[in-house]
Amino acid sequence: MQNFTMERFRLDGKKALVTGGAGMLGYHAANAFAEAGADVAVVDLPQCLERAQKIADELAEKYGVKATAYGVDLCDEAGVDQMCRDVAAKLGTIDIVHSNAGVGGSRTPDYETPLSDYMRVMQGNFVTMFLVDTAAVRIMIRDGHGGSIINTCSMGGSCVMQGPPYETFDNSSYGASKAAALYFTKSLAAQVIRYGIRVNSISPGHITPASGGQLHDDSIDEATIETFSISQPAKRTCDVDELMGGLVYLASDASSYCVGMDLLMDGGHTLW
Ligand SMILES: NC(=O)c1ccc[n+]([C@@H]2O[C@H](COP(=O)([O-])OP(=O)(O)OC[C@H]3O[C@@H](n4cnc5c(N)ncnc54)[C@H](O)[C@@H]3O)[C@@H](O)[C@H]2O)c1
Repeated sequence: MQNFTMERFRLDGKKALVTGGAGMLGYHAANAFAEAGADVAVVDLPQCLERAQKIADELAEKYGVKATAYGVDLCDEAGVDQMCRDVAAKLGTIDIVHSNAGVGGSRTPDYETPLSDYMRVMQGNFVTMFLVDTAAVRIMIRDGHGGSIINTCSMGGSCVMQGPPYETFDNSSYGASKAAALYFTKSLAAQVIRYGIRVNSISPGHITPASGGQLHDDSIDEATIETFSISQPAKRTCDVDELMGGLVYLASDASSYCVGMDLLMDGGHTLW
């Protein structure tokens, strides 16, 4: 038996694109990929470009990789296509995509969510992913080397998220957008594995904000976090760093037989 298991987690020379790279999870993911040896494109909204560029500079200095930043609204189809082409031209190609940009849910009174808000969340969480993944797939097929796409879904795509005891609210736009993302992950995985492109997802539970990013979701208040913390097996939220091993695993050859898989990292929340 050869001792090459840890080698298979390395990403040396790979080109990784992280959307929502200026946010909490994306920032940590960009760091994890760079630490594993990948060149990284940090992609976020135009108004976050300054922060994205700062992160790219930090990665280049800290890990000695090539890093670049890009500002684009990922709801803009032509903009996404151009962004993928520009990133591929700058880094050489795209091998890894972490489709991670997202927005918080509506948390409106029961069955009172306005359609405009529903559409905002579906656009922000699902349409962005659909556009980025399909544009990146076209580049990967063009360049003929396969690749790995990891979509950030959520445990909220598989269960109704709790509020404080005995309170309900409508956060279904978020769950519906993440359920769509889970389904899309599996469907796209089946379509593109013949090109050597693997598509998988991660589904985190509530993540604790860490330095380097803010919690996007102001629809989650302290009482909800408290409820979450006492009512699930692990009895705590997820430290963002606890997701990084799973992300590097899915990005790398270590997961070469994982196709359309969802890596649920929720502290056991969905067991009960
Ligand atoms: N925070 C949690 O507890 C949690 C739990 C499960 C899943 N998630 C998911 O993880 C992902 C990252 O969340 P986070 O907590 O790091 O949030 P965050 O707000 O810190 O990061 C999200 C980033 O996405 C960017 N973004 C949003 N819409 C965009 C668009 N149209 N174009 C370009 N960029 C856009 C934002 O500017 C932001 O930087 C999201 O998809 C979220 O749904 C988060």
